[in-house]
Amino acid sequence: MSPDARKTVRRSRCVMTEIILPNDTNNLGNMMGGRLLYLMDKAAAISALRHANRTCVTASVDSVEFQSPIRQGEVVVIESQVNRVFRTSMEVELNVWAEDTRAQTRRICNRAFYTFVAVDDEARPVPAPPIFPETPEEHERYEAAARRRELRLMLAGRLKLQDVEHLRDDLLELVRQRG
Ligand SMILES: CC(C)(COP(=O)(O)OP(=O)(O)OC[C@H]1O[C@@H](n2cnc3c(N)ncnc32)[C@H](O)[C@@H]1OP(=O)(O)O)[C@@H](O)C(=O)NCCC(=O)NCCS
Repeated sequence: MSPDARKTVRRSRCVMTEIILPNDTNNLGNMMGGRLLYLMDKAAAISALRHANRTCVTASVDSVEFQSPIRQGEVVVIESQVNRVFRTSMEVELNVWAEDTRAQTRRICNRAFYTFVAVDDEARPVPAPPIFPETPEEHERYEAAARRRELRLMLAGRLKLQDVEHLRDDLLELVRQRG
């Protein structure tokens, strides 16, 4: 990969594949949540590093729901990519699949959004390079990332309601619907 090629979403992509063994599971034979979160954090970090090409730290993890248990013997596939870069921070999206290799089926198990921040050697935030979405899906995720960012910064107490820009129409629509 040429170091000066355009920084696309594709270049940040990471696919992590692991087989679930007894050591990874609870008494029910299902993968433990903490083990999955550990792998998700690693995959997200790889995407952030592939994009920023410098140290990146986890700033936040949006709510994670475990929709479907992953069973011993199944293969877990974690796909991650940078959706959007703001200034120093990046939104990384993760999609987790469980693969039953006997039945040759795959089901989605969870989706999560991590925020990573590019930092210098003193752990101070520094700007990350811009990212270029290419496909219609990547453009959609790019747009949606701005709204999610506002919501997470509001929840973290870092953004006031009056400073919301991208989320404003969604909030007004919600207020209108609720009467
Ligand atoms: C993340 C960290 C670098 C932010 O530092 P800070 O002094 O708050 O820096 P800033 O206020 O300049 O914020 C830097 C960026 O982080 C983003 N950010 C900070 N807190 C955030 C949060 N809770 N959620 C999402 N983004 C956040 C800011 O929006 C900003 O993004 P932008 O530059 O793209 O606009 C700092 O809090 C830190 O080092 N945290 C510990 C990181 C770590 O150890 N992670 C592993 C934990 S297990």
